[in-house]
Amino acid sequence: MDHRPIGVFDSGLGGLTAVRELMQLLPREDIIYFGDTARVPYGVRSPETILKFARQDMNFLCSYDLKAVVIACGTVSTTSLSTLRREYHLPIIGVVEPTAAQAARVTRSGRIGLIATAASIRSGAYEKKIAARRPGATVYGKACPLFVPLVENGRFQMGDPVIETIAREYLQSMQEADVDTLILGCTHYPLLSDVIRHIMGPDVTLINSGREAARALQALLVSSDRLNESQSNGDTSYFVSDTVDGFEEMAGLFLRSNLKGMVQQINIEKY
Ligand code: DGL
Repeated sequence: MDHRPIGVFDSGLGGLTAVRELMQLLPREDIIYFGDTARVPYGVRSPETILKFARQDMNFLCSYDLKAVVIACGTVSTTSLSTLRREYHLPIIGVVEPTAAQAARVTRSGRIGLIATAASIRSGAYEKKIAARRPGATVYGKACPLFVPLVENGRFQMGDPVIETIAREYLQSMQEADVDTLILGCTHYPLLSDVIRHIMGPDVTLINSGREAARALQALLVSSDRLNESQSNGDTSYFVSDTVDGFEEMAGLFLRSNLKGMVQQINIEKY
């Protein structure tokens, strides 16, 4: 039993896909969320810059006494996880391992699609993990650099012609490759699940990297006896590095709750 909060971070809204799962799976846990909205997107940057940002994100979160951190960011998980695990002395869950494991488990044909940021695709991290678990599987990767800015600007709803056109173009190669499983390898992409499902059809299984990371954390807390066993529901605190207004609105929409006045801005450059 451990009452300390869990830290979760991403470059912006994407990590909320993990937060939403955590709230369902582990409702007693307190969560501290940081979205680096002043510096989103991460996925178009160099590994060195991503690591620098990730260290600052970790330093901010670790100013709290945490029991674990979820890197709810595919880009940081694919490029910086092993370095961060060496440098910070608390359990750190990334999205790649649990997401790759789930894809390897559910694919029937062994034809797995992967959509993610350019940095994640370049890293080859998902491919390596899948090859270890399912030798012979083929991974078809595609970077989708316009998805994150569109999601951050609230353009993630079905019926929006801009997101639908771009998604169709990005997903064409996945349709041609005849994948039966599609990894949403960037945590922003589950916000586009309806649009992506509509294009890919009901026979393709979508794997939500935020959800898989949340499940991995649950397994870790159970196996290490660190669940918060208090009687009341946990609190979530939200921090961002840019103005709170847009984030409050979009995050509230996605989490279906009113976050007015609940998001605080911090200066991430101090960390
Ligand atoms: N949501 C993040 C990811 O999973 C970051 C996307 C970005 O900032 O480019 O990759």
